[in-house]
Amino acid sequence: MTQITLRRPDDWHLHLRDGDMLQAVAPETARHFGRAIIMPNLVPPVVTGAQASAYRDRILAALPEGSAFEPLMTLYLTEDTDPEDLARAHTDGLIKAVKLYPAGATTNSASGVKNFDKVRPVLEKMAEIGCPLCVHGEVVDDDVDIFDREAVFIDRILDPLRQATPGLRVVMEHITTAQGADYARSGGKDLGATITTHHLVINRNAILAGGIKPHYYCLPVAKREEHRLALRKAATSGEACYFLGTDSAPHLDGAKLAPCGCAGCFTATNTMSILAEVFEQDCALDELEAFASLNGPAFYGLPVNAESITLTKGDPVTYPDRIQTPNGDVTVFDPMMPLHWRVS
Ligand code: DOR
Ligand code: ZN
Repeated sequence: MTQITLRRPDDWHLHLRDGDMLQAVAPETARHFGRAIIMPNLVPPVVTGAQASAYRDRILAALPEGSAFEPLMTLYLTEDTDPEDLARAHTDGLIKAVKLYPAGATTNSASGVKNFDKVRPVLEKMAEIGCPLCVHGEVVDDDVDIFDREAVFIDRILDPLRQATPGLRVVMEHITTAQGADYARSGGKDLGATITTHHLVINRNAILAGGIKPHYYCLPVAKREEHRLALRKAATSGEACYFLGTDSAPHLDGAKLAPCGCAGCFTATNTMSILAEVFEQDCALDELEAFASLNGPAFYGLPVNAESITLTKGDPVTYPDRIQTPNGDVTVFDPMMPLHWRVS
């Protein structure tokens, strides 16, 4: 096969940031994607409907002229989230989901949840109104090894939380383990999981073998090869519970290449070329549309995009190594393999 046409894909987990960074990265996603679930971990975080509305306006203003890209907004769950404000924002169509960060788990998560009992009324309200909860699924306990934090989260937090809140729709964001893929598959219609582009390509060796490589450091951190293979199997299966959420997370190179470097891989620019390569390698090009364009809208109860995109196979694709911002560069994720599929 040398050409494949799919419904325009969506990105069900994206960081666009704000200000100059937003201006620089928004066009990268808007080029290929129809919609994206926008992460609320700004500083300060997007915690109210009014803040989500203002952020949405800033995103729309950062898009290239004529772009039809639609940002799907989220609220950042805190222990002080007002269930009524949340419900209003959801009923008005302003937000499509709420994001749960365990406090301390990742970038700008300090305002996240420490005591899960405190958010119980909000979660019950969300179950009642059908608002999905997008979960960063890692425990933060010092005594849990960073490579085990996702699997432990499922047992200690996620499963009890779901049992205690029947009807709550949950997206396990950026799963990185076989345990995550298995749990998502077993969860029925109210459970989904996003998988990033980079976790289909790298295992933990990319970060640590042959010298430390901060551009491959993200959270949850990439795991052993057996887990990457489990994610590849999940993504290429076409099963409805798995869909694309790139977690494209731009940081200035200066913040990545530092003694305490930031977590995040910036994949907005070359995601579709990488995914086509990955799905072709696994003889599953015919499942790419399910993963990137169909399963996400089905989970969120939204129509699929009306338009299509076509990927054509040819000579190795070139793309910029870096995106420039007035404050410095953002390095584009290097998949360490030639890419042959270009969006035409
Ligand atoms: O790698 C990551 N980067 N993981 C996250 O959970 C947050 C994100 C960011 O905001 O930079
Ligand atoms: Zn993220």
